[in-house]
Amino acid sequence: MVEIKTRAELERMKKACSIVKEVLEKVEKEIRPGITTKSIDNLAENIIVSRSAIPSFKNYRGYPATICASVNDVVVHGIPSDYVLKEGDIVSIDVGAYIDGFHGDAARTFMVGNCSDVARRLVDVTKESFFKGMEFAKSSCRLSDISHAIQSYVEDNGFEVIRDYYGHGIGRELHEDPTIPNYGKPNRGIRLRPGMVLAIEPMVVEKKYTVKTLEDGWTVVTEDGGLAAHYENTVAITTNGPEILTL
Ligand code: MF3
Ligand code: CO
Repeated sequence: MVEIKTRAELERMKKACSIVKEVLEKVEKEIRPGITTKSIDNLAENIIVSRSAIPSFKNYRGYPATICASVNDVVVHGIPSDYVLKEGDIVSIDVGAYIDGFHGDAARTFMVGNCSDVARRLVDVTKESFFKGMEFAKSSCRLSDISHAIQSYVEDNGFEVIRDYYGHGIGRELHEDPTIPNYGKPNRGIRLRPGMVLAIEPMVVEKKYTVKTLEDGWTVVTEDGGLAAHYENTVAITTNGPEILTL
């Protein structure tokens, strides 16, 4: 069942979402060759805790960190480590925060120094595909209109969308109904209504969309070693269209 949030609940969700936004803005400033993904995790955790919030991902099904830091061919759920970012890497940072009874969730892919043309294009197309989806994030549209818009834009630009991971409803739980694929035919699924809050998160790859999970049980990588990017925001459907709470 898809939870409908009241105006008051949406206002409360903005707290969690603004902390997530703050984390991503501060992380962006720190991204440079020579820093470890673990140091980004520490920064994120310090900000969240200093705002009296709780990292949403830590201990979620045993996940060991505050952020996911997914470098190059890692699609999602990369665990922060002693890996040192180097010039030309791309790194997706995904973070969630919980405060006042609600979660916020967002992700960005950052370029480390100068990146290849294809990396740059992948990062741009992934972000832009989210905004193509936003054109359909309004009542009167159906869920798969968002999915279809994302997939079409990505494929028109010569990339592929991941099939094995999805966006999701969000609120009192990190993952709520509905499940939001980044692909599919238009005009399918639930009709969108004011008060629905959705984490819309295109995951896009340079080559084939097939993935595998490493032995740590978390790290999802492309099978062919192609680059991957991720862009996510928590979005409220309102009578005035989509409100992007983490931007
Ligand atoms: N944004 C991701 C998601 O919605 C992050 C989850 S990581 C996890 O699934 F560790 F919490 F699972
Ligand atoms: Co999410």
